[in-house]
Amino acid sequence: MEKTLVLIKPDAFARHHAGDIIKRYESEGFRILAMKLLKMDERLASIHYAEHIGRPYYKDLVGFMTSGPLIAMVLEGEDAIARVRKINGKTNPKDAEEGTIRKEFATSGRRNAVHASDSPESAAREIAIFFNQTEIYDGTYHVEADD
Ligand code: CDP
Ligand code: MG
Repeated sequence: MEKTLVLIKPDAFARHHAGDIIKRYESEGFRILAMKLLKMDERLASIHYAEHIGRPYYKDLVGFMTSGPLIAMVLEGEDAIARVRKINGKTNPKDAEEGTIRKEFATSGRRNAVHASDSPESAAREIAIFFNQTEIYDGTYHVEADD
């Protein structure tokens, strides 16, 4: 089982697509282990997007990511890192495959609805940016039987 960090970005959140996006991951069988609503500030953006500092789009990316609330979550599942990236689709919705979250909800190569970790190393790093150990559920799910 693998864990990955997903962000529902401010564009998708503001347009009320959070529920649709969460439903997609749940219907693919992923377990939600952690979830919170937060507003990114420039410092948090610089940590999360450290590898993008200095790129021509960095300033606009930070402006976008700090423009409103987002949802951060940890998803768990088999091969979660690659599978969630695939469900999200390519960075730019023009290139994203039919049926992907970005094809449906992204409005540009910047306002592209979701983020997901791209490797085990980035998943471990990114999960720790957004969540403490105590905020990540580590037990098994229990389904109540009918009385
Ligand atoms: O998110 P993903 O890993 O697919 O793409 P990335 O190349 O790691 O870029 C990170 C994020 O920066 C993208 O998801 C876009 O929101 C943003 N970006 C942008 O605003 N302009 C670009 N030319 C490339 C990326
Ligand atoms: Mg990336």
